[in-house]
Amino acid sequence: MTKPKILITRKIHSQVVDFLNEYCEVEMWSEEQTVMPRETLLKKVTDIEGLYCFISDTIDAELLDAAPQLKVVSNMAVGYNNIDVKACQARHITVTNTPGVLTDTTADLTFALLMATSRRLLEASDYLRKGKWQSWYPTQLTGQDISGATLGIFGMGRIGEALAKRANGFDMKILYHNRHRNEQAEKTLGAMYVSKEELLQEADFVCLLMPYSEETRNFIAKEELQLMKPSAILINTARGGIVNEEDLYDALIQKQIWAAGLDVFEKEPVRLNHPLLRLPNVVTLPHIGSASIATRLNMAKLAAENLVDAVTGKTPKHVVRP
Ligand code: GLV
Repeated sequence: MTKPKILITRKIHSQVVDFLNEYCEVEMWSEEQTVMPRETLLKKVTDIEGLYCFISDTIDAELLDAAPQLKVVSNMAVGYNNIDVKACQARHITVTNTPGVLTDTTADLTFALLMATSRRLLEASDYLRKGKWQSWYPTQLTGQDISGATLGIFGMGRIGEALAKRANGFDMKILYHNRHRNEQAEKTLGAMYVSKEELLQEADFVCLLMPYSEETRNFIAKEELQLMKPSAILINTARGGIVNEEDLYDALIQKQIWAAGLDVFEKEPVRLNHPLLRLPNVVTLPHIGSASIATRLNMAKLAAENLVDAVTGKTPKHVVRP
């Protein structure tokens, strides 16, 4: 029996490719660090049944029209804003993602970014390396306390809950806002449901952990930033477009908020002359929320299992149903 043809748009772990080879005829882009050029991608999808892709690939109607045999788009990520899910549904193409396996790793990174931003770790390290550490003085590189502070979480899903769990260890008060109340988080983690406005006004740390969609685009803009405390810190490990970056820059310059920690940007990779990169009170990371060795392997495996299930007529574990 002929195996279904699939395309992997980046080089992935060899053991995952071995697994895929058992069920599929695999073509893989040989580059690990460079995105497959769009034109090449459009040419390579013409006879495939499965597409194994990443957040750096745009899967839109144009691409789907070039792939008439496509049955499944398997994204190696929990977020899927790079995929036009409606266009896939209209063509009966299954979309899958990789939730669950990256929850703790992403919550760890979110908390690490919160700590690095509030205690000015990168600035302090640079200060030392640039020879500015000439003496010790009482107000030197002072930051904001984490223990006992109020954490506000937008998006109380799996990662939100995992973040709240970490915050409990720091005796933080936990507020959250979500499309639906999460009674489990209220009971087991002591999280309190509040309105968007209340969260912005009360939180010392505002953490964004919600999915990115048309609804959440610019969820944090001028008006929201104005509600935050001058000592507050914004942490975004979800998607860049959730925050209006120009408004954030203005709020930081005008000292409406104290600092920001960003793992994500509206356009990635972020350009080096991006104004937010010039501010000392902004800690920036290159979208590494799920980047632990073990978690990236688990994501790669799960994306492969989802894809194989779909091309062999089974229901994949994680079908995206927005
Ligand atoms: C990473 O950003 C993901 O969505 O998995």
